[in-house]
Amino acid sequence: MALTVSLSELRKLEDCLLNTSGDVPLHTRFRALFTLKGLKSEDAVKIISKGFSDPSALLKHELAYCLGQINKTSALPILEAVLRDTSEDPMVRHEAAEAMGAISHPSSVPILKEFLADPERSVRETCEIAIAKVEWDNSEEGKRHRSSKNDDVPAYTSIDPAPATSGLLRGAPKSEEISEDTVEKLKKELVDTNLSLFQRYRAMFALRDIGTAAAVDALASGFCDDSALFKHEIAFIFGQMLSPHSVPCLLKVLQDSQESEMVRHEAAEALGGIATPEVLPYLREWMNREDAPRVVRESCQVAMDMWEYENSGEFQYANGLSGSRPIAVA
Ligand SMILES: [Fe+2]
Ligand SMILES: [Fe+2]
Repeated sequence: MALTVSLSELRKLEDCLLNTSGDVPLHTRFRALFTLKGLKSEDAVKIISKGFSDPSALLKHELAYCLGQINKTSALPILEAVLRDTSEDPMVRHEAAEAMGAISHPSSVPILKEFLADPERSVRETCEIAIAKVEWDNSEEGKRHRSSKNDDVPAYTSIDPAPATSGLLRGAPKSEEISEDTVEKLKKELVDTNLSLFQRYRAMFALRDIGTAAAVDALASGFCDDSALFKHEIAFIFGQMLSPHSVPCLLKVLQDSQESEMVRHEAAEALGGIATPEVLPYLREWMNREDAPRVVRESCQVAMDMWEYENSGEFQYANGLSGSRPIAVA
């Protein structure tokens, strides 16, 4: 259920998110952002839309993500403008395209099609997946899925870039009933580069929903792919699953200076959410490493805040909003 806040609280959240005082730490701005996302209101869309002139690509990509998750068509013009801005960081443009897929309005399809030949691979791949998602949402299968979805409380409340492979949609059999064969079959689909990215994403989300250690291992095999987009989504999913079993492969990704910063960023945030004791020194190290890209350093800063939050005994979490990112402390 969406939260409500008073007008003065809304102003405070706006000032915090937009850093009007000039001295709000990034992780505090993130908390304001996740509170605004939880409001799911038109006011929240308006406030979040004002943040795109910020110099932090990390913050801006999260703004776009949240606009997609709020799921209001009023966000489409700003998301389109961000996607069209080729001087913008590709990670931000990617997230804008993905958010358009999340909102899933048919009017976005021709716009997304324009970027199927974008010079940035992560942008064109995102557009390919987003188009397939909007089309799937409007297919018979998609409509059936939507109408049956209320029967069970989904494990994850996020709007995903692709639905889990059919037969394993949310609310489908519990993990104990899922055979090793199923995980093996999904793993084959996940790594099969002859399939469309959308199909491979469907296998990815099915494995997430299965959630066993074997499913984590199958997902981790996707880190050998050569698509940064694909790998960053696996890291993001690990941030949702919160399985300590994924920590070793996430630490490897975070520390790999050859890896794309988008993937390393997502690994850092996943580690902050999993929040086991051994990850903290790595987050601290990479937050301060001068040779690390800005987005990696900033992600570690946010991840440290998440880690502290998870270990603080506070109970105010974003329930499945985006991994386990904290909400609200404004
Ligand atoms: Fe992303
Ligand atoms: Fe991200």
